[in-house]
Amino acid sequence: MSKSIYVFDSGVGGLTVLHQAIKVLPLERYTYYADIKNSPYGNKSSEQVKKIILDAFEEIDPKGVKACVIACNTATSIVVDELRIKCDYPIIGMEPAVKPALAIAGKKKIILLATELTLKEQKLKRLISILNAEEQIIPIPAPELVQAAENSTFHTNQLKTILESKFDRLNLKEVGAIVLGCTHFVYFKPLLRSLLPDTVELVDGNIGTIKRLKSLIIPTEQSYEDSLNCNLSGTIVNTEFLLPYLSYCDNHQINAYEKA
Ligand code: DGL
Repeated sequence: MSKSIYVFDSGVGGLTVLHQAIKVLPLERYTYYADIKNSPYGNKSSEQVKKIILDAFEEIDPKGVKACVIACNTATSIVVDELRIKCDYPIIGMEPAVKPALAIAGKKKIILLATELTLKEQKLKRLISILNAEEQIIPIPAPELVQAAENSTFHTNQLKTILESKFDRLNLKEVGAIVLGCTHFVYFKPLLRSLLPDTVELVDGNIGTIKRLKSLIIPTEQSYEDSLNCNLSGTIVNTEFLLPYLSYCDNHQINAYEKA
């Protein structure tokens, strides 16, 4: 059986990560796993999300997996340690890119956009404390963006108003960076860019995550006909549903915003 790199998310957010993976490792065979039956994860309890994800991984045949990218900050914060113990293939997790944002923002404030669950979890609190960044980070949940991405709406007046209302009490001159701590939010870079002063950098973990993936696998030299597969909560489906999202990433150069 030829093995796939699995890219796992609750829904379509991880496609922004898959887009970067295909750019860097174009010959690999990929299976995109979207757990749409249980999406969104961000408004559930950590116990619920843990069970959902561990159950999903029970159904994945490890013989077909070369590596798995957990292209979801929420899932990573809840369950990455357990997955690493259970699975004998490399598991690459994602966490909000606070460290690179600090390097960019210097002493300025950093807005951290993430799901409610990611913001509540100990993993993020530990990261912020290790980096001594409690005073600089302004955490803001943005569940509306998860829903909007699932509906393929990336640039509407309603979204503009939602985002403006999240920032209206802040002095954006004091903000050096916004961390997009949820893979669904990466689609909104063009909208965010249009709302924010140039002095505010948009930071996410997509490029770093795929660099890490590349360092952990031996890239294939052969190309596959069925190089892209799609699994929706355990059901293999046609990949057509993925293609508009990948084209959106291409057309808007979604992964070119990030400073490598
Ligand atoms: N894409 C996911 C993340 O990076 C979460 C979206 C959700 O299911 O709430 O956190």
